Amino acid sequence: MSTNTISINQSLHRFDGHREVWLFGYGSLIWKADFDFIERRPARIHGWTRRFWQGSHDHRGTPEAPGRVVTLIADAAAHCAGMAYLITPEVFDHLDHREKNGYLREIVNIEFSQGGSTQGLVYIAGPGNEAFLGAASDAEIARQIAQSKGPSGLNRDYFAHLADALRALGESDSHIDRIEQELLALSGA
Ligand code: SIN
Repeated sequence: MSTNTISINQSLHRFDGHREVWLFGYGSLIWKADFDFIERRPARIHGWTRRFWQGSHDHRGTPEAPGRVVTLIADAAAHCAGMAYLITPEVFDHLDHREKNGYLREIVNIEFSQGGSTQGLVYIAGPGNEAFLGAASDAEIARQIAQSKGPSGLNRDYFAHLADALRALGESDSHIDRIEQELLALSGA
């Protein structure tokens, strides 16, 4: 089993005293905005790289057969493109539940694609969390994604939505591109 991070996130109270908070999304939060937001803007953060290194026991896999979803890994030379949302702190009740499988809210500097920057929050599932799977070859990651499913659906649908959302933003991510090639090879395309 893995740590449920809801109570840890709620005890951090990060930005909860503010009336509005920017949240940076880099995975399902780019394409599944099932929460109220005031506005959203394409954005990026520096010093982090997106990796399919987090296990999903609750959305795209099960405790017995976890799927793989993205988290961020510190890398001073890297940047990660995604979507920033301006939300009210009440929205964290929903988001903390959605991201409960190992993700903690961290403070980050968000750079908007159209100019300007702000401090905000991002959910990161660090290497210390119990659901963390870590590095594997692109082929191995693709195999696990192709085989996994959970209460939120097929793991490969999570992957496809993310790859499509990045293309729609005009962004490329070599980690995602390589896994997509492996998934295509597995499907015989
Ligand atoms: C995010 O999208 O920002 C966090 C990871 C996920 O929910 O896929």
